[in-house]
Amino acid sequence: MCGIVGYIGNKKATDVLVEGLSKLEYRGYDSAGAAINTGESLQVRKFKGRLAVLEENLKNFPVEGNLGIGHTRWATHGAPSDKNSHPHLNMDETIAVVHNGIIENYMELKEELMSEGVVFKSETDTEVVAHLIDKYYKGDLFDAVYKAVAKLRGAYALGITCKDYPDMLIAVRKDSPLIVGLGEGENFIASDIPAILKYTRDIYLLENGEVAVLTRDDVKVYNENKEEVKKEVYHVTWDVEAASKGGYDHFMIKEINEQPNGVKETLVRRLDENRNIKLDNINLTKEDLDKINKVYIVACGTAYHAGLVGRYAIEKFAKIPVETDVASEFRYRDPFVDENTLLIVVSQSGETADTLAALREAKSKGARILAITNVVGSSISREADDVFYTWAGPEIAVASTKAYTTQLVSLYMIALDMAMKKGTITQEFYNQVINDLENIPSKIEEILNNSDEIEKIAEEIKEAKNAFYIGRGLDYYVAMEGALKIKEISYMHAEAFAAGELKHGTIALIEENIPVVAIASQGSLFEKMVSNMEEVKARGAYVIAVAQEGNKEVEKAADRVIYIPKVNDILASILTVIPLQLLSYYVSVKRGCDVDKPRNLAKSVTVE
Ligand code: F6R
Repeated sequence: MCGIVGYIGNKKATDVLVEGLSKLEYRGYDSAGAAINTGESLQVRKFKGRLAVLEENLKNFPVEGNLGIGHTRWATHGAPSDKNSHPHLNMDETIAVVHNGIIENYMELKEELMSEGVVFKSETDTEVVAHLIDKYYKGDLFDAVYKAVAKLRGAYALGITCKDYPDMLIAVRKDSPLIVGLGEGENFIASDIPAILKYTRDIYLLENGEVAVLTRDDVKVYNENKEEVKKEVYHVTWDVEAASKGGYDHFMIKEINEQPNGVKETLVRRLDENRNIKLDNINLTKEDLDKINKVYIVACGTAYHAGLVGRYAIEKFAKIPVETDVASEFRYRDPFVDENTLLIVVSQSGETADTLAALREAKSKGARILAITNVVGSSISREADDVFYTWAGPEIAVASTKAYTTQLVSLYMIALDMAMKKGTITQEFYNQVINDLENIPSKIEEILNNSDEIEKIAEEIKEAKNAFYIGRGLDYYVAMEGALKIKEISYMHAEAFAAGELKHGTIALIEENIPVVAIASQGSLFEKMVSNMEEVKARGAYVIAVAQEGNKEVEKAADRVIYIPKVNDILASILTVIPLQLLSYYVSVKRGCDVDKPRNLAKSVTVE
């Protein structure tokens, strides 16, 4: 899982590459590199470590040239090191390649090439691509690239430059994201839009198997059969500012604060003037829904946690049985899927390999696929039958926040739409929920305005080694999300439990001063939650409760209470998660962690 950028034009290529890579570091950041085609030679710089290491080198030892490819790496084959960093080259260093994805048959290809005398310099799968192109290169780079990729199995987005072609850059895409940016006298390739937004808003979304040939003034795209294809220009409308920190210390806190807007956008864009839901890219009719006897919601990590809330909403509103599963498990348990199944995949990036594989598995068995994703043109959005875009805007921090809340809103809207079509809820109920949803953004604002209180609690618990998160019903799912968030960005060990399950074992771990975050937003379960809090408090836990305003009774069982504004219990998850995000954020800052780029994690997990 890596990010690639390529440039051909009149600017200094290293400037464009570094700028682009800085917007792609969320895709991995264990090494970075670039190759510049000067026409005389390929100048390669590549280093283990953050992009800053490459940047510093290029500052001290500049490379002139207007054509180049760059890479930010997240190790898959071969540990992070200078030699395993991209670009990779053929033996006489005339062909350079950057790659995002995995070449599954690289061992086989490597052995074959080695038996032909090729000497490998790295342990990566990518290096075989450079040598394969070299093997087939007889003066025609385009032809050699086609011959080489025909040998590859796996996923790849490739940027290729060859010393003999100082006026041409080649890009190839299969199962890894890749776009082409169209400029005036300059053109770009990149794994994702923010990398080139500073220069252009007009892009081509490359399809699987397509090869793009870029010169300064032209871009031609060819299909697998080498036939030229006519591409539509996609015009990016979101602002370049949206992809930068906008005055906040970290992307994560910026994105937490963007939630009122993200939720509002996700909602209002789907309501017509009569407040009826209009789902532009979803064509599920009443007849389609009547045929569906089973819904699976499949996702990973935070998106999976959103899917658990989605299950509750769809079962409650539309009365269809729903199972929510993590994508990496779903595929391998031979789930019962047929043409009467609806598979809802939830993915911020739309590129998560496990989720994509689950989608394909269910599709091959005849299921209808509905994707909820934040990235227009992502692989998942393209392979699904129906798509619901969350309008969160680009999410840069590795820890997902605004994607989660907009995923919740999306799932509620889909559940409401299904229920109205199936006639399982009344118009009055529908109106009430829509009305409550419309009030959510201002309630999120209220919680955000109270973030000082949460920062104080973070100060109190920042040294803890372990923490527990407990809840019942919808609150349990939010507890899972709260625990994941604090683990990933502050490295505090945290686990979530269904509060009623505590006494079946886990309560043995409760000791003096251990933080227990107890979410108690559900009226019908409130008393039971208060009892669970009392149980852990009696054993020395430091209890931090999250409850709806007015439920003062919680105070007797908690050391600290974070109140959220009063809300319909069904929708409480969209609010209870906000203090948990803030708590994780402040603990992470106070522990001196790298908030936006936690260790061992990458934003988009494109390997299984
Ligand atoms: C946690 C987080 C991850 C992602 C997961 C799925 O903060 O960000 O758990 O939720 O990797 O990613 P997407 O939603 O892009 O499929």
